[in-house]
Amino acid sequence: MLRTHTCGELRKDHTGESVTLSGWVHRRRDHGGLIFVDLRDRYGFTQIVFDPKHKDLFTIAEHIRSEWVLQITGTVRARVAGAERDENPTGHIEVEVAKIVVLNEAETPPFEIDQDRDAGEELRLTYRYLDLRRERMQRNILLRHTMLQHIRSFFYDRGFVEIETPILIKGTPEGSREYLVPSRIYHGEFYVLPQSPQQLKQLSMVAGFDRYMQIARCFRDEDQRGDRQPEFTQVDVEMSFVEANDVMQLTEEALISLVKKARPDVKIQSEPFPRLTYDEAMSRYGSDKPDLRFGLEFTDISALCKGCGFGVFAKTVEANGVVQALCVPGGAESSRKEIDDLTEVAKIYGAKGLAWIKVGDDTHEGVPVEKLGAEKTGEILKAVQAKAGDMVLFMADQFDIACASLGAVRLEIGKRKNMMDPQVFAFCWVTDFPMFEKDAETGGIAAVHHPFTRPRASDVELLNTDPLKAKAVAYDVVLNGSEIGGGSVRIHEPDLQKKIFDILRISPDDAERRFGHLLRAFKFGAPPHGGIAWGVDRLVMLFAGEPNIREVIAYPKDQKAKDLMLGAPSPMPEAQLKELGVQILEE
Ligand code: AMO
Repeated sequence: MLRTHTCGELRKDHTGESVTLSGWVHRRRDHGGLIFVDLRDRYGFTQIVFDPKHKDLFTIAEHIRSEWVLQITGTVRARVAGAERDENPTGHIEVEVAKIVVLNEAETPPFEIDQDRDAGEELRLTYRYLDLRRERMQRNILLRHTMLQHIRSFFYDRGFVEIETPILIKGTPEGSREYLVPSRIYHGEFYVLPQSPQQLKQLSMVAGFDRYMQIARCFRDEDQRGDRQPEFTQVDVEMSFVEANDVMQLTEEALISLVKKARPDVKIQSEPFPRLTYDEAMSRYGSDKPDLRFGLEFTDISALCKGCGFGVFAKTVEANGVVQALCVPGGAESSRKEIDDLTEVAKIYGAKGLAWIKVGDDTHEGVPVEKLGAEKTGEILKAVQAKAGDMVLFMADQFDIACASLGAVRLEIGKRKNMMDPQVFAFCWVTDFPMFEKDAETGGIAAVHHPFTRPRASDVELLNTDPLKAKAVAYDVVLNGSEIGGGSVRIHEPDLQKKIFDILRISPDDAERRFGHLLRAFKFGAPPHGGIAWGVDRLVMLFAGEPNIREVIAYPKDQKAKDLMLGAPSPMPEAQLKELGVQILEE
C-alpha cells in the first residue's frame, strides 16, 4: 500500500508515530512561514505541515496546487492549543512532513471541489468524476451503498434468492417505450432492454423459486423529470403463495429497518403505515401519492351543493361532478395575488377556476357567499369545520379533475406554509387502483399498472360489464408524497390473463407473439404469486434529502437523456451499422 493510514484515521493516540498518507490536496494555506495542506481521501482530511527548515520539501510545497495527488511520510503531532478543530475527527493532530512524493499533478478543476457552491449541472455531469469527489456526492453515494447492502441482507436473511434476469430480452411492453438493440446475427430483429424484470420474475415463480429478489436495472425510454431517469434501479421482489397483505407487511418491515439503519434521526410518522384506497387518497388528498406529513384534507360537499344557489356548484353536481372543499387554517389573510397563483396551479390540472370564502366572525367574503345565502354558507363552513380567520377553497368539476387540481393546490399551500417537515418520514400505502384507464392518446383502454395485475375477486364480473370500474389487487408505497414502490398480486391463470388481453384489445395472435412465453408457462402449474418493486433512486433521494434523483446516481443522464461525461448517445461508424443491417434515415 502507498499509505499506512487513511486521511480520516489519525487521532491524538497516534502522536509520535511515523505515518505515510496518500491523497488529494484539498486546500493549501500559506501561513507566514509554514505551509498547511489539507490532504483528502474519501475517509476525511488530515492537516499536513511543511516547515521552511526542510528547504527541499518546502519548495515542493510552494508549488503544489489543489487536487494534486501526494504521498507524504511524516510524524504525527498534537496541534497547538487554539488550532484544534473539534468538527473534524482528525482536527486535534497534524502530520509534520518529512518526505513527499508528488504522485500526480492536476489541472485547475472546472469548479471548486472543496466548496459546495453550485457549479451548474452541465459542468458537474460533464466532469462527474470530479463532482463525485465533493463531500455532498461522496455522502450520497455512500448512503446509497449502505442502503443497498442493508436491503440485500434483509432479504437474504429471510430466504430470498437473488436471480439475475437478462438485460437483452424480447419486447414485452409494460407501458413505457422500450429501448431497442439491433441484432447483428438476425438482421431486422431486435432485443429490447427490460422496463423491469416483471415477466422474468413471474416465470421464476413458475420455476418454483418461491422468494425472489434482485437489485435490478430497468430501462424506459420516456420523458425525463426530476424523479425519472432512462435507466434506474429497482429492488425487485416476487413471492409465491402470498396475498397482498404478505407482500405489504414484508415491505413495511424492510422499509422501517432501512430507516433505522440509514436515517435513525428521522421520525416515522405512523407504524403500521396507513392504508388508503385509491378512491380515498384521491378524494381526501387529491393524489394517489399523498404527502401525509400535513393535513389539509378535502371535504366532499357535493351533497350540500345539490340544487344550491351557486350555479357553478349546483350544475357540477347535476352533471355527476363533485364539489371538493379545502379549509386553510389562517388563510383569510391571503392576498389576491396569492389566491391567483393558487388558481394558476389548479389550472395546470385542468381546473377552470378556484372559488374561495374568507371566513370572518359574522360576515364572510367571497363570490359564493352571496349566491349561496347565509344559511347554506353556514352549513358548508360547518361541514369543513372552518373558523374565523380561515379560508375555504372550492373545486367543482368532474371527480378526477376536481381532486387532482385541488390536490396540486394542497401541495402548494403545504410548501408555502412549510408544512413538510424534513425530519418526518410519512409512509403510506395506496391500494385498490383501477385496473384500467382511458388512454388519453388513443382513446382505448390501457392497464394502469401492467397487464399481469390481478383484479379484485369481487370485480371479476365487472370485466365483462364495465371494466373501467374494476379495481386491482395492486398497491403503491408512498413516502412524503413520492411513489417509492408499486406492485400487485398477479394473474396466474391463462384464461383470466387472456380476458385481460381481450379488454386491452390485444388480439390472440398479438398476445401469442408478445406474451406467448408467459401464457405457455401458466399452463404448467403456475403458483399464485405477487410482488413489488421499489424505486431505489427515489428512495435514496428522499433519504438523502436531495431534490432530484440525479444527485444520488453516480453517473446519471441529464434531463435530455444524455450522458454528458461519456458523450452518449453518439453516432456509430458506418461499418458497424452495416454489420447490424441498420440504415439511418435523414430527418
Ligand atoms: P413500476 O413501474 O411502478 O412497477 O416501478 C416501480 C418503482 O420504480 C420507480 N420508477 C422509476 N424510478 C426512476 N426513474 C424512472 N423512470 C422510474 N419508473 C419507475 C418508482 C416506482 O414506484 N414491474 C413493476 C413492479 C411490480 O409490479 O412488481 C414495476 O416496474 O419508484
